[in-house]
Amino acid sequence: MRREVDFLVIGSGIAGLSYALKVADHGKVLIVSKTFVNETSTWYAQGGIAAVMYNPDSYEKHIQDTLNAGNHLNDEEIVRITITESTERVKELIGWGTHFDMESSGRYALAREGGHSEYRVLHHQDKTGAEIQRALTEKVQSHPNIEILENHFTIDIITQHHLGRIVRRTHSDIQCFGAYVLDPATGIIDTVLAKTTQIATGGAGNVYQTTTNPTISTGDGIAMFYRAKGVVDNMEFIQFHPTSLYNPHEKPSFLITEALRGAGAILKDIKGNEFMHKYDERGSLAPRDIVARAIDSEMKLSGSDHVYLDARLISEREIMNHFPSIYAKCLSVGINILKEMIPVVPAAHYICGGIKTDEFGQTSIKNLYASGEVASTGLHGANRLASNSLLESVVFSHRASLHAIEAAAVTKLQQGIPNWNAEGTVLNEEMVLITQSRKELQAIMSNYVGIVRSNLRLKRAFDRLYTIYNETEELYDKSVISPEICELRNMISVAYLIIKFASQRKESIGLHYSIDYPPKQS
Ligand code: FAD
Ligand code: SIN
Repeated sequence: MRREVDFLVIGSGIAGLSYALKVADHGKVLIVSKTFVNETSTWYAQGGIAAVMYNPDSYEKHIQDTLNAGNHLNDEEIVRITITESTERVKELIGWGTHFDMESSGRYALAREGGHSEYRVLHHQDKTGAEIQRALTEKVQSHPNIEILENHFTIDIITQHHLGRIVRRTHSDIQCFGAYVLDPATGIIDTVLAKTTQIATGGAGNVYQTTTNPTISTGDGIAMFYRAKGVVDNMEFIQFHPTSLYNPHEKPSFLITEALRGAGAILKDIKGNEFMHKYDERGSLAPRDIVARAIDSEMKLSGSDHVYLDARLISEREIMNHFPSIYAKCLSVGINILKEMIPVVPAAHYICGGIKTDEFGQTSIKNLYASGEVASTGLHGANRLASNSLLESVVFSHRASLHAIEAAAVTKLQQGIPNWNAEGTVLNEEMVLITQSRKELQAIMSNYVGIVRSNLRLKRAFDRLYTIYNETEELYDKSVISPEICELRNMISVAYLIIKFASQRKESIGLHYSIDYPPKQS
């Protein structure tokens, strides 16, 4: 089937939906979602969205906190744009129907998280993402110009390559004409022609064994963009959240929001002693890279599988009002957080790098935009400040929409795009080959490309990955296309890029820590 739209949006999280709402008054919009519309990382976001709301906070303070967390590898211009537009974008989310918690004074209740010098995190209890997603989904579903295609898998974006032309990575005129989209229920691959396309496919946490990310986060957008010879950046900076609930075999790992530490919870070692002061004067509220490494080090020293987060000093009232989901989840696995410490362990959480974009969400490929976790805007530098991700998504989806509306007005749909060629493929009966390779890849990444790295570990990771890459390409060439084989291929590309960027960085900075390059003493 051929479809023709003005705006194609790949992804139905905060980045995709907020962008779709903006462009929808200027043409026909198609949103493609891999599973169902609300199964996104956005839905799982707990802590909240950072924005400057009241005195004594200021844009300058938030800017400095973002730069400090990012070890000043951030693009300062992008940081300034993001923070100074934060208030306006949050008010827009509120206007679209999002409810953030309020104090009795009528002001928004603001939380504090690691690396923030002020209370500035707007939240909805400990399920902020679900509330934002609910509001956006309702708005999008009632817009007459927007169609949502659930349970459809985008395989590749369409470029000149599909017209039979040779496209080189250095080619500056690569253009996007839409995407090939698979309906796994029928096996039919649609050719979606679009004047402009936005990639909003989120993160890639599933390249690791333990992650807070839902199963949809397999780096598809980064991989399809890289295959189309687009420019990616900052791939070595993978953020491990310090505190996911230690509950082996649960996937995804349940997050214990940093806001709990902001409210007074303290990290303790396996014997119940505080340890963060040994690593940073900010203690349990130091930036995430420092806390995750400290936990990793304590676990290696004691040989334990986890450390503890002690929330017993927080009042019952605060726990019930602000953290009801965490209370209920822990209780469901036998831990009463009012009386017992929570076993926690770091988990892959966020990819700071991805598709390189400019201040209007433009990628290196014409008529192709990216925003949300898939994009590398330059905001985060070497480490993301907590709760800056939802903010980044709305700021750059807004900015991308402004550009895309103008681009769509002067662009015609490309003619002559062939349908997907599935010649010579047979049904893949050996699903075990795919699932086993996926597990091997996750083990390689967790063991050799995790919180602490070395040249030798990276080399080993690359060598092992290369074998899986060759086997998978062979399988892909002869298999009927399925989300499983596509995801595996995409995860291999993303893993390759993480290893490649990590190998090229000859220093320890922010989220990239190598024992071969001890950090500079400040
Ligand atoms: P997502 O919300 O992940 O949406 C991705 C979309 O792309 C999905 O609809 C998916 O189906 C679709 N997709 C992917 N691949 C394909 C494909 N091949 N074909 C079709 N569709 C595809 N950030 C904060 O700022 N504050 C927080 O408090 C916070 N808490 C978090 C808690 C958890 C547990 C997690 C996992 C993350 C948290 N983050 C937080 C990070 C933040 O939630 C994400 O970075 C952000 O929501 C990403 O939004 P997105 O729109 O880019 O992607
Ligand atoms: C959390 O609630 O701790 C997650 C916040 C984030 O990832 O920004």
